[in-house]
Amino acid sequence: MISSLTSDSILEGTSGLPLNVRKAGMSDIAPLLELINGYAAKGIMLPRTEFEMSENIRDFSVIYSGSNLIGCGALHFYSPVVGEVRSLAVDPNWTTHGAGRRIVEALLEEARLFALDAVFAFTYVPDFFRKLNFQEVERGELPLKAWKDCLRCPKFQCCDEIAMVRVLEPEHWHGHREAQPDEVVLLPILNQVH
Ligand SMILES: CC(C)(COP(=O)(O)OP(=O)(O)OC[C@H]1O[C@@H](n2cnc3c(N)ncnc32)[C@H](O)[C@@H]1OP(=O)(O)O)[C@@H](O)C(=O)NCCC(=O)NCCS
Repeated sequence: MISSLTSDSILEGTSGLPLNVRKAGMSDIAPLLELINGYAAKGIMLPRTEFEMSENIRDFSVIYSGSNLIGCGALHFYSPVVGEVRSLAVDPNWTTHGAGRRIVEALLEEARLFALDAVFAFTYVPDFFRKLNFQEVERGELPLKAWKDCLRCPKFQCCDEIAMVRVLEPEHWHGHREAQPDEVVLLPILNQVH
């Protein structure tokens, strides 16, 4: 049931308030933009606009301490069986461990509810994802459709992010990765630059 994703209050933060993990809503957009674009200014994340956030808000889960947004992450669907964890961020001023883990666990729970075979991430923090049982893979192992966001990334021609996958259904995952017709369209472009 998707409704089981709406709220999960299980951790204590430094403030003593419980941490509340839930799906994002429109009222979260302003603090989400502040958090994500703060990291984007340092070149750590892609910048997001209010328009993009509104369009994609249903992908997002948020974690709050009281009324303060302290972290977020998104599960973006790429195919009926593959999703991406992206826009993962914890407020740099938040010092209590476990918020990032809790967000990813909520996104993985969501992925299972949608019966995904695997979830991937492109990241500069592979050791964080390893702790969550993701494993490093060659980009070629991911659906090419998953690279479409790379086309608008400022680091398109010098990408140093690491591709990681958390396989949820091993038998299905190893069987389904043939290129789809619309993915083939990207292939010549991507081969020139990666
Ligand atoms: C990456 C990030 C989300 C981690 O959030 P966090 O709340 O600090 O992570 P957690 O405390 O839940 O850490 C979970 C585990 O990963 C480890 N970990 C966290 N960040 C790590 C890092 N940068 N390198 C190695 N291990 C890390 C923790 O030590 C912890 O291990 P443990 O369970 O053995 O104690 C956060 O540092 C962040 O927002 N970074 C900037 C944005 C970013 O890089 N996002 C990722 C884009 S893909």
